Amino acid sequence: MTAKKPKTAAPSANPVTPAKPAQKDRVVIFDTTLRDGEQCPGATMTLEEKLQVAEMLDEMGVDIIEAGFPIASQGDFEAVAEIARITKKAVVAGLARAINADIDRAGEAVRKAKRGRIHTFVSTSPIHLEHQMRKTEAEVLEIISATVKRARNLTDDVEWSAMDATRTPIAYLCQCVDAAIKAGATTINLPDTVGYSTPDEYRAMFRAVREKVPGSDKAIFSVHCHDDLGLAVANSLAGIEGGARQVECTINGLGERAGNAALEEIVMAIRTRSDVMPYVTGVDATQLTRASKLVSAVTSFPIQYNKAIVGRNAFAHESGIHQDGMLKNANTYEIMTPESVGVSKTSLVMGKHSGRNAFRSKLKDLGYELGENAFEDAFTRFKALADKKKHVYDEDLEALVDERIATASDRVKVIALLVVAGTMGPQSATLTLDIEGSHKTAQTTGNGPVDATFNAIKALIPHEAKLALYQVTAVTEGTDAQAEVSVRLEMNGRSVTSRAADPDTLVSSAKAYIGALNKLMQRDLMGKREAG
Ligand code: KIV
Ligand code: ZN
Repeated sequence: MTAKKPKTAAPSANPVTPAKPAQKDRVVIFDTTLRDGEQCPGATMTLEEKLQVAEMLDEMGVDIIEAGFPIASQGDFEAVAEIARITKKAVVAGLARAINADIDRAGEAVRKAKRGRIHTFVSTSPIHLEHQMRKTEAEVLEIISATVKRARNLTDDVEWSAMDATRTPIAYLCQCVDAAIKAGATTINLPDTVGYSTPDEYRAMFRAVREKVPGSDKAIFSVHCHDDLGLAVANSLAGIEGGARQVECTINGLGERAGNAALEEIVMAIRTRSDVMPYVTGVDATQLTRASKLVSAVTSFPIQYNKAIVGRNAFAHESGIHQDGMLKNANTYEIMTPESVGVSKTSLVMGKHSGRNAFRSKLKDLGYELGENAFEDAFTRFKALADKKKHVYDEDLEALVDERIATASDRVKVIALLVVAGTMGPQSATLTLDIEGSHKTAQTTGNGPVDATFNAIKALIPHEAKLALYQVTAVTEGTDAQAEVSVRLEMNGRSVTSRAADPDTLVSSAKAYIGALNKLMQRDLMGKREAG
């Protein structure tokens, strides 16, 4: 029997070698981790954390950073303005509804950017027009012309988005796009807002709109996909095939509901399958792991173990057959190298005798590059952990560094905790906190040791925040493993998450709760959102 010839050309023999950029069409990467990503419940970031993420995105070669929604709150406005001021290379965008006040506020926020963009959007689908906007198609067309013109008076770089584009009839969508381009929009974004589309439909939508709208060659078309059906990355790539040249995405796929298309997956899919996708991005892929860890740390959202590209298991080969193949030739089971996304293989084992150089090199292998102060702090805590724990695994170090990033600007710190627990209740906790420089102690009881500990925190820092999530996981195996605790608090319609790790579950519980309170106490998170 003769083997059938494949219909398409076989992938290049060495899939880990990307094609030369000069032969490829450039795809612009628009990162919205700080806007659509931050809209995800519990993913709220402080100003300091947003600046860290923006700096990372700029360094790694993201073309556009959507820094926030300036009208939403004073904190959002300040974050966008500060990111606009410090960003060196990327365009900085601020989001605005199709409302004059929003557009003016976004324009003001990005005014100091080297390159600033106003991103304005309005719904176009019948279901949104009827039930949410209560406007006719003709009214929305007028709104598009007026608001895009207003934005163009503030900056030359205006993006217009048709919210719920994928559920909008093509004929009306074309009229809207035509109005936006005539009013001066330079980028046209057609989002799959509710994650409903399929790759074939999404590709066809871009082809149809670009073909039917006379001035479509004057604007760059953009994809923006949500992952409700797990199709966000596939849809984004199909949209590019349909002619889009900008991709809106987030690190780790963070975003509303099931999230947005994951930046790292888009970048690596384009790079790894350049034989069938003749495009190139400006992102330095070796920074993807670092970016993923930073976003996970500042949001306290864990990365799924088997997450493509950046998951802990993404390059792990467990089965005997796979391991055998890998030992003979890595190309047998690896379509990209761990190094290409910033993970380098290492056999360095850490323990209490490891010095600064070994620790620094280990962190680098794990994808972390810390500033001097953060490094010293992490090193001190590593030594303390190595004293308590015989084997310090990579996961322990990740938990240790992630925790520090998440608590860099603490106003309250845990000093000491003594808990009495067991079958003879009531359980009690004696907790000492450093509250803005002065030490305060409270002793409380509770329905179990965690409840007693959290009651002690409430006694020392009275607050209205509601505990929305309390989750404990073991960082590694063994009874001496660190317990990683995630705590989510909700207050004034905002929610924040914090993570802490310690061999003592109650200490990590107290630290995680205090971490979340610290986030809520940040000035920019305390004020209620004015809109949105
Ligand atoms: O999903 C969406 O439609 C959006 C718009 C604001 C672009 O996030
Ligand atoms: Zn979105």
